[in-house]
Amino acid sequence: MKPNPDRFLSDLHELRSFGASGVGKGVIRPAYSEADIAARAWLAGKFEEAGLEPHYDPMGSLFGLSPEPNSILLGSHSDSQPEGGWLDGALGVIAALEVARAAREAGGPPVSVVSFQDEEGRFGVTTGSTVWSGRLSLEEADQLTDSAGITLAHARAAMSEVTGDFVDPSRFTGFIEMHIEQGPWLWEAGEAAGVVTDIVGIRDMRITFHGEQNHAGTTPMHRRKDTFQALSEFNAAINERFRNVVTPQTVWTIGHVKLHPDAHSIVPGQATFSMQWRDGDADRLGRMEEIIRETADEVAKVRGLEVSYGPMLGLEPVAMNQMLRSALEESAQAVAPGAWRTMPSGALHDATNVAVHMPVAMLFTPSINGISHAFEEDTDEADLARGLEVLAGGVARLGGAKA
Ligand code: GLV
Ligand code: MN
Ligand code: MN
Repeated sequence: MKPNPDRFLSDLHELRSFGASGVGKGVIRPAYSEADIAARAWLAGKFEEAGLEPHYDPMGSLFGLSPEPNSILLGSHSDSQPEGGWLDGALGVIAALEVARAAREAGGPPVSVVSFQDEEGRFGVTTGSTVWSGRLSLEEADQLTDSAGITLAHARAAMSEVTGDFVDPSRFTGFIEMHIEQGPWLWEAGEAAGVVTDIVGIRDMRITFHGEQNHAGTTPMHRRKDTFQALSEFNAAINERFRNVVTPQTVWTIGHVKLHPDAHSIVPGQATFSMQWRDGDADRLGRMEEIIRETADEVAKVRGLEVSYGPMLGLEPVAMNQMLRSALEESAQAVAPGAWRTMPSGALHDATNVAVHMPVAMLFTPSINGISHAFEEDTDEADLARGLEVLAGGVARLGGAKA
C-alpha cells in the first residue's frame, strides 16, 4: 500500500480553506458553523471520489463507508475550536481518506473514514461520538447549549437536509485515530511518532454564582454580593485544596467566564464559568469534583450568594487495544527506527467514545513548540508525511484482521 503524500497534503491544505482565519494557518470552523457544514460537504465529495459512500448520522458526523464488509474505521473530526489550528482533527480525517484511497488502489484491506461532529465541545465533550457511543441520547444532547445559549437541537437543524440514521458500528473491525500530539514531547525529542497507550479522563461543567447586580460607584464594599469576587476566591481556594490530591499530570482549567451584565460600572450579579479537569485516574477525578462543589458552596454561603451547577459532562480514562497498538508500533519502528515512543494522551479524542463499540488505537505526530488550540498550531510537513506512512503501515499489517 503506497499512500500519496502530495495528494494528502494538498487535500489537507484545501480543507484549511474552509473557515481560514487569515492568521497563519489557523481556522475558525466550530461545529455546525457555515464553514463546518461546507467543509463536510466538500469531504463528502472527496469520499465519493474515493469510492466510499458518504453518510451523515443524525448529529452530522460524516462517514465515508467502504462498500466491503468488515472495514477498519479511520478518522477524527473536522470541526475546530473557536480559534483553532489547521491540523487538530483535520489531520486524522485526511490521513484516513488517503489511506482508504491507497488501500483501494493496492487491493488492500477495506477502509472506512469518519469525521465526527462537535469533537471540540461547542455543546458538550466530544458530542458527536458520545451520542454514537450511546452514552448520551440524542434527546439529551438536544438540550445542551453552547456558551451563547443556543441549543444543539437548533444548531443541528441546519444539517437536517443531509442527515440520516446512525451507522451500525458492528460493520467495523476497529478504529484508529491519527492526531497531532498537541503537547511538546515528540517535538522536543525530535521524534516522528507517538503510539498512544491510553487517553485521560475528563470532567466538565458550568458553574454559576448568583449575587446582586448594583451600582459600582455607590454600593459600599461590605454590602456587595459581587459574583466576580466569589469566582476569584473560589479559584484561589481550589488551587490550594487540590494540592494534596493532584499529581503533576493532573490539569484543571477555567477557560470561559461570563459576567452579567458585563459592564465596567455594574457590580456583576451573575458569574457563569466553565470548570474542567482531567486525569488518568477516575477516583481522582471524583475527589476533585467533591472539592469543587464543597468550595463553591462554601464561598457562596459566606458571601450570601447562591450557586448552581450545569450538567456534569465527562469521559472515563480509556486504554488502547494491544493488537492495534502493536501494528502501529511495528510500523513506527519500520518508518522511523528508534525515533518514536509510546505515550499517554492528555487531550481528549473521539477514540474514547468509539472504544464502547470496538477496539481502538491512536497515533500522534509532533506539534511544533507543543502549540495547539491556537492559530499558531503547526507540524512540519515531513512529519505529517511520515505519520501518514506509519498509519498506512499499521493498517497494512492488520490486513483486515479483527482485533
Ligand atoms: C480536545 O480537543 C480536547 O480538548 O482535548
Ligand atoms: Mn482533536
Ligand atoms: Mn481539539
